[in-house]
Amino acid sequence: MRSYSTHSEDQTIALGKQLAAGLRGVVLLIGNLGAGKTALSKGILTGLGVATPEEVTSPTFTLIHDYGSAFHIDLYRLETAKEVAALGLEDLFDRDVVALIEWGERFPQLMPQQHTEIRIQGSGEDRRFEVREVGGAGRNRTDE
Ligand SMILES: Nc1ncnc2c1ncn2[C@@H]1O[C@H](COP(=O)(O)OP(=O)(O)O)[C@@H](O)[C@H]1O
Ligand SMILES: [Mg+2]
Repeated sequence: MRSYSTHSEDQTIALGKQLAAGLRGVVLLIGNLGAGKTALSKGILTGLGVATPEEVTSPTFTLIHDYGSAFHIDLYRLETAKEVAALGLEDLFDRDVVALIEWGERFPQLMPQQHTEIRIQGSGEDRRFEVREVGGAGRNRTDE
């Protein structure tokens, strides 16, 4: 597990840029409303070279933003697994793209077993980010 701290939205965007190169596949962004999930996504998508921070807006109402080799998804407004299943995310999960997902942890059965988790906590302007790989190679979770 790696952890990082930021003290402003700009620092969070800078952190996202820094983390981008090390990310692949599904990345669950986990934290309360206003934690900084979208701010970090601005940095990650910028670091991946698919957008600028100004171009990245929250997919809260649009659900999925397609940046070509990366996707930014927000499941906040969806309530049932059936609604999420209807989005057809599996097709995305099978492709070699980065999928940043806000509120994906609410539907664990629909998320791929292997993913990266970024947990965000904090108060005021201070935010702490914990990055960990889940279900990765080298670990056999089928026995768990
Ligand atoms: N260190 C920080 N990192 C990110 N956002 C911060 C930070 N400090 C304050 N903020 C504010 O918190 C809010 C984060 O919003 P957003 O990224 O949309 O959150 P989320 O997507 O988790 O709901 C913004 O209004 C931002 O200005
Ligand atoms: Mg958000």
